[in-house]
Amino acid sequence: MKTAYIKFDSEKKLAHINKEIYGHFSEHLGRCIYNGIYVGKDSDIPNKDGLRSDVVEALKEIGIPVLRWPGGCFADEYHWKDGIGDPAKRKKLVNTNWGGVTEDNSFGTHEFMQLCEELGCEPYIAGNVGSGTVRELSEWVEYMTLESGSPMAELRAENGREKPWKVKYLGIGNESWGCGGNMTPEFYAGVYKQYANFCKNCSGNELYRIACGPSASDYNWTEVMMKNLHQNGWWQANGLALHFYSIHDWNCKGFATVFDDKGYFDLMNTVYFTEPLIAKHSEIMDKYDPDVEVGLIVDEWGTWYDVEEGTNPGFLYQQNTMRDALVAAISLNIFNQHAKRVKMANLAQVVNVLQAVILTEGERMVKTPTWQVFKMFLPHHEAELIRTSMAAPTLDEQGVSVPMLSQSMSVKDGRVFLTVSNCSLTDDCEVLLDSERGIIEDARAQIITAMDIHDFNDFDGSEPVKLCEYEEFEYLEGMLKLIVPAKSVVSVSFADVK
Ligand code: AHR
Repeated sequence: MKTAYIKFDSEKKLAHINKEIYGHFSEHLGRCIYNGIYVGKDSDIPNKDGLRSDVVEALKEIGIPVLRWPGGCFADEYHWKDGIGDPAKRKKLVNTNWGGVTEDNSFGTHEFMQLCEELGCEPYIAGNVGSGTVRELSEWVEYMTLESGSPMAELRAENGREKPWKVKYLGIGNESWGCGGNMTPEFYAGVYKQYANFCKNCSGNELYRIACGPSASDYNWTEVMMKNLHQNGWWQANGLALHFYSIHDWNCKGFATVFDDKGYFDLMNTVYFTEPLIAKHSEIMDKYDPDVEVGLIVDEWGTWYDVEEGTNPGFLYQQNTMRDALVAAISLNIFNQHAKRVKMANLAQVVNVLQAVILTEGERMVKTPTWQVFKMFLPHHEAELIRTSMAAPTLDEQGVSVPMLSQSMSVKDGRVFLTVSNCSLTDDCEVLLDSERGIIEDARAQIITAMDIHDFNDFDGSEPVKLCEYEEFEYLEGMLKLIVPAKSVVSVSFADVK
C-alpha cells in the first residue's frame, strides 16, 4: 500500500468552478446526432419530437450545462438556412469530413434549440467561418435571438417559433488553423474580429464570443491571438478555444478495449500533459490579460482511438473502459485546478463518437464509465475551488513517470468535496486528508472502479464500471484516512468543522 497526504484550507477559495467545465459537444458526425440524439418523430424508439427520451434523461442526470453544436469540422461546412423550415424540403449535403454520408438536415436550429430546452442546458453555437460569410453568421444570430422587426425574426416566426431563444455561447470558426480554413493566426485574428463585430447582441441577448484557439501546444497561436484580440479599448473575444485530445501516437492509436500496460501508461502520460499545457497557455494569456477577462475554453478534449472493428472509419465510434474513466477524472481535476482561467470545457463527443458519455445501439443505450465520472463530479458544479497541497507517489512504469494521484477539492453549501483518481494498475493508496482549519466529520464517499482496467459497460445490460457508495475510510484525530484503490476514482464529501 502506498501513502499520500493532502492538506487543505476550506476557507482559501481560489476560483469559481463554472458548471460549464462539465460541458459536452455534439457534431453531425457518425451516429452522434442521428441515432444518438435524434431518431425522428416516427421512430419506435421512445422520443419527444424525434429526440431520444433515454438519452435526454441520461444527460439530465449528469447535469449537462452546455452543448456545443453543429461541429467540429462540420461547422465550417454547415449552412444554417439549409436546416430550417419543412424538413421534407430541406436541402441535403454530403458530409465530406465524416464518412461522405448524405446529411438530410432534418436536425437543424429548431431541433437543436428544443434539445437544449429539454436538457435545460445552454446552447453553444459553432459558426461557419471557413466556407460561410459574415452576413450568413450575423443573420443566424439574428434569426435565433432578435425578438421582432427583421426578416430573420419573421422567418423564425414563420417556422413556428415566435419567441427568440437565448444564445450565450457563440464560437466563431472551428480549428481555423486546420479543417476550418488552414489560416495563420495573424490572418485568422483579423477574420475573427470582422465576424465578431457583426454578430450583434440582439433584444437583450448577450453573446459570449469565442475565438478559435490553439491546437494542443501551439503556444504561438495563443500569443498572436492575445496580442491581437484587445482593440479599441476592449477585448473583442470573451473566450479562446483550445483543442487537446489524449492520443499517444496519431499513427498508431490502438483500440479502446485492447491495450497493454505500455499503451495504458503512455496514455496516462499524455493525459497528464493537460496540466503543463493549460498552465503554459494560461501563462501567455496572463501576460496580456492579467484580470482574466478572456476565458480559456477547452471545447474539444478526450480520448481518440481506432474505431471499433467493422464500423465506418469516418464515424469515430469507440468503446469506453475504466481507462477512459481515469482519463476523464484526471482531465476534470486539472480543469478544476485551473478554474481561474478555464471557463468551459466540452468533452468530445456526447453520444456514439470518441469518448462518449453515452453509446446507443438501436433502442439500447449504455452509460459509459466516462458518464459515471461526470455523475460523480456533479457537486463540483458552481462550487469554489479551494487550496490544497498534496504529497503523493510518482509511478515509474513502462518507461514513463506519471503522478499516481490526481485531485481537486471544492466547497459548496458548507460541505467540502474531494475527487481523487489513482492510475496505478496494482497499488492501492492510503490518503490522509488533513484540514488546516478544523476537523473532518460526516464523510460520505463514492467509488468508480473495475475488476479489470479493460472493463466496459455493454449493451447486454452488464455494467461492471459504475458509481457505487464506498466505505473504506476512517476518522483519525480530526483527519480522514481514505483508501483509494488501484485503477479507481473516489469522491468524498464532508463537513470541515471549526
Ligand atoms: O471531434 C472530432 C473532430 O476533431 C472535430 O470535428 C474537429 O474539430 C477535431 O479535429
